[in-house]
Amino acid sequence: GTIFPLILINVFVHLLLPVEGTDYYGRFPSNFMWGLATSAHQIEGAWNASGKSEHIWDRFCHAGKCWKGDTGDVACDSFHKYMVDVQLLKKIGVTHYRFSLAWTRIIPNPLTGEVNQEGLNYYRQLIDELQRNNIIPLVTIFHWDLPQSLEDIGSWANESLIGYYNHYADVVFKAYGDKVKHWITFNEPWVICWMGYGTGEYAPGIKEPATRPYKCAHTIIKSHAEAYHTYNDKYRNTQKGQVGITMNSDFMAPKDPHNKSHIEAATRAQQFNLGWFAHPIFKSGDYPDVMKNYVAKNSPQGTSRLPNFTAQEIARNNGSADFLGLNHYTTSLVEPLRRNDNVHVTGGYIDDQENILSHDPAWPGSGSTWLFVVPWGFRNLLNWIRTEYGNPQVIVTENGVTDNNGTVQDKHRVDYYRAYITEMLKAINEDKCNVTGYTAWSLMDNFEWSNGYHEKFGIHYINFSDPELKRVPKDSAIFFQKLITENGFPD
Ligand code: NOJ
Repeated sequence: GTIFPLILINVFVHLLLPVEGTDYYGRFPSNFMWGLATSAHQIEGAWNASGKSEHIWDRFCHAGKCWKGDTGDVACDSFHKYMVDVQLLKKIGVTHYRFSLAWTRIIPNPLTGEVNQEGLNYYRQLIDELQRNNIIPLVTIFHWDLPQSLEDIGSWANESLIGYYNHYADVVFKAYGDKVKHWITFNEPWVICWMGYGTGEYAPGIKEPATRPYKCAHTIIKSHAEAYHTYNDKYRNTQKGQVGITMNSDFMAPKDPHNKSHIEAATRAQQFNLGWFAHPIFKSGDYPDVMKNYVAKNSPQGTSRLPNFTAQEIARNNGSADFLGLNHYTTSLVEPLRRNDNVHVTGGYIDDQENILSHDPAWPGSGSTWLFVVPWGFRNLLNWIRTEYGNPQVIVTENGVTDNNGTVQDKHRVDYYRAYITEMLKAINEDKCNVTGYTAWSLMDNFEWSNGYHEKFGIHYINFSDPELKRVPKDSAIFFQKLITENGFPD
């Protein structure tokens, strides 16, 4: 008689909890880096000012391929309002700010390689302003805005981009390396290659899933390694900085954790997502075996659509990063594709790994179709990285959640951050994962690529029809202020 209502209450309370596991307290290591993140095209605007040339996202959105005709032409106008942004950062109390450089401002014509002084000056001013406010820059060299002229010669399928990229990296190491000590060569190569050249949902909108993403990834990995070695050869001794790369990864969980084929499928999915890039750079210089095997198995007999690295390239890839930048938002459930499954797959990625990815309908959603709130996945992923790659230094370079209305009373965002950051704290304090920093996505609502201004990740609200583009702190901004002051969740 008494147990049944108790169970009912229990189930009810459990359903009400938006997220789990926040009853854990403690502080982060004393030198932990706390920051907020943005990228050039998503905040700067001034798309053709001061000598900047056109890039693939200008072209893509000008062609009407982004949400309701949205473009990054003005965005948050940070090109002009960077001093305001630095004051926002200061108010929150961050130690670090992660932002990206626009290749098209610094070297508008990569084919000649000529440097545009005005473009170079812009980031110099930003870096100086950060320094005046005691904020340390964490700089992404390439965050998706490929110069259109390089797209036109074949983009990342053309290996001459290795040299063009290396020149660009060399220019910025030289120009800013006195003050910039953390470099991220590429942001999310998986997204660049798969969404840009596989599904075509992102610029430049090419749909060749069977071959182009693999070629793109191959050139990007080699470009990363060359830039890393350029830094080593020319700048490391004097500048004493670190060079890493940022990868996006869901945690890939077996749909049925007791089913061996689901467990294998989840590992395979993790390798096709994170391992594609992390394995060559942090483990062996080459792609994961499971990826090689599955791509070959699905290619014409005796061939593979996955390109090969030479022995020399393997040696240059291997160990070519001082830290792993991790962008993590959500978790996927994985089960193997069975021969008789009547699912429509478009080829390439999903076909080659022979998996079906889904989510648990009980997971809370967000303002983005792909983003479900699964805090425990974060701790699991950090541990997967620790065991798979020998506990490398990890800087979490993005984490966050959307809504579509931009409410400043963003309890769901505070809950998300509180829960995810608690899982990260457990990973550090309990599991000894070597996580040294965290920059949340994002400082403010901004241009969310193909989804325009509709999907809002900011801890500051911006009304994009207001010509002043005023930045308004949300409740999550106050949450970060306190979190950073207390360096965690003391009891
Ligand atoms: C990944 C990207 O690096 C960033 O540009 C984007 O806005 C966020 N994640 C959210 O999708």
